[in-house]
Amino acid sequence: MSARYLFLLGVVTGLVAGCGESAPPAATVSPPAAVPAPSAIAPAPSADTAALPAPSPQSIAARKLDPEKIKRGATVYRTNCASCHGPNAEATPNWREQGADGRYPPPPLNGSAHDWHHSTATLEKMIREGSPGIGGMPAWNGKLTNQEIDDVIVWIKSLWPDEIYDIWYQEIESKQKN
Ligand code: HEC
Repeated sequence: MSARYLFLLGVVTGLVAGCGESAPPAATVSPPAAVPAPSAIAPAPSADTAALPAPSPQSIAARKLDPEKIKRGATVYRTNCASCHGPNAEATPNWREQGADGRYPPPPLNGSAHDWHHSTATLEKMIREGSPGIGGMPAWNGKLTNQEIDDVIVWIKSLWPDEIYDIWYQEIESKQKN
C-alpha cells in the first residue's frame, strides 16, 4: 500500500467524518425573525392598471356595448391599428420612452394609459385627425367609414377593465370634459 493511497484514504475518511461534524445543530440556526416578511410591507399604490381584472362578458353587457360592433371593431383594429398599437392594444413595453427622433411610440389603448381620459367625442376626433407631424398618429378621416371609426372605438372600450370604465363614464364621458 503506497503512502499516496494512505494519504487519499485519510483525506476521504476525514471528509466523511468532517461532514458529520460540520452539520450544525438545528438550534444554532437563528430564525430570521428581525426581517419583516415581504407581505408586511404595504404595496405602494401604482398607477399601472395592468393588474386590474379584465372585463367579463357580463360587465360588457352592463356597459351596453354592442357585441356586433366589438366584433367589427376588432377587425378594423387588426387591419389598421395593430401594427402600431400592438395586437391587443397593449403597445410595446417602452411606449413611455421618447425615441431618438423626439417622438413617443404609440401608446396602449387598453385602459392602461391615457386613452380612457378622453370622451367618445374626443377619441373620435383623435382618430379622425391623428397627430401628423410631431405625434405620428395617422389621420383616418376619409380612410375609414364613420361606422368603422365607431366600431373601433367600441372595441377599444371593451378592453378597459371594469374599474376604468366606471371612472371614465362618471368623470369623463358624462361630463364631456375631455
Ligand atoms: C403609424 C402608427 C399608428 C397607427 C397605424 C395608428 N396609430 Fe394611433 N397613435 C399612434 C401614435 C404615435 C400615437 C400618439 C400620438 C401623440 O402622442 O400625439 C397614437 C395615438 C392614438 C390615440 C390617442 C391615445 C391617447 O392615449 O391619447 C388613439 C385613440 C389612437 N391612436 C387610436 C388609433 C386607432 C383606432 C388606429 C387605427 C384606426 C390607430 N390609432 C392607428 C400611432 C399609430
